[in-house]
Amino acid sequence: MAEHQVETASSDKYYFLVRRLHSLSGLIPVGVFLFMHLAANASVLAPGPPGAEFQKSVERIHALGPLLVPVEIVGIFIPLLFHTLVGFQIIFTGKSNAQHYPYGANIRYTLQRATGMIAFVFILYHVWQMHWLGKGIPGGGKFELYDTGGGPAAAVTTAAAIQAAWYIAPLYAIGILSAVFHLANGIWTSLITWGVTIRPKTQRASGYVCTAFGLLLAAIGLGALTGFRTFDAQKAAVTGTGHTVTSVETRH
Ligand code: HEM
Repeated sequence: MAEHQVETASSDKYYFLVRRLHSLSGLIPVGVFLFMHLAANASVLAPGPPGAEFQKSVERIHALGPLLVPVEIVGIFIPLLFHTLVGFQIIFTGKSNAQHYPYGANIRYTLQRATGMIAFVFILYHVWQMHWLGKGIPGGGKFELYDTGGGPAAAVTTAAAIQAAWYIAPLYAIGILSAVFHLANGIWTSLITWGVTIRPKTQRASGYVCTAFGLLLAAIGLGALTGFRTFDAQKAAVTGTGHTVTSVETRH
């Protein structure tokens, strides 16, 4: 009996740690990455030569050179994989955090799980489409950083990926909104997880702040998407950086 109690206590402790790591991984680095990724993409809307600012943002990231892939794997993919696996385990074993939703906000509880799964499918599609692996699908494998003419190739090729079929932008909108809701609502629940917001009044106040954050991030994400959806590659070629941008159609 005593042995059983010790065993239960240590598995509870282990589970507590896993849940804390799940929460932490959703915030840092995955949540921070999502914010920075959408903000960098929104630089396509910046004034000045079309796509020039976005080109600079992408080049700053690629300045890491051979370190970029290991940094992405350790800093983004492994934490995201961990968060996803534990997330699916939480969903399918029904280990709920229903106590986080004291006002019967069952909709948000369900939406948190649904948006996690939609974000998972979307992230797989997005990574696949933007890299060489996706060459066979509409808009797939187009992304390129440098153009032979030195123009804003990153913006031109991202726009080509988004504009390749009518349904791609709506798919991106669903993916972006799901990920943003998941993060904003997740920040709200994580403040409870970490014992920061305990009283109902504080939780209500943090609800307003998280809603404002979510609306802002949704505007940034959808703004970026609209920027690529309406990006005019021909105009960028003429007014861009003074260099000629080879048409994406002829290169792919
Ligand atoms: C866009 C990428 C993602 C971000 C930024 C993110 C972020 C977060 C955050 C901050 C939380 C709150 C943690 C807490 O309450 O302490 C959370 C919860 C959760 N996430 Fe994610 N997440 C992402 C992707 C995913 C994916 C792909 C899944 C897979 C299904 C998932 C499943 C879950 C689940 C089930 C919860 C609720 C956990 C609970 O009720 O305790 N998430 N996420």
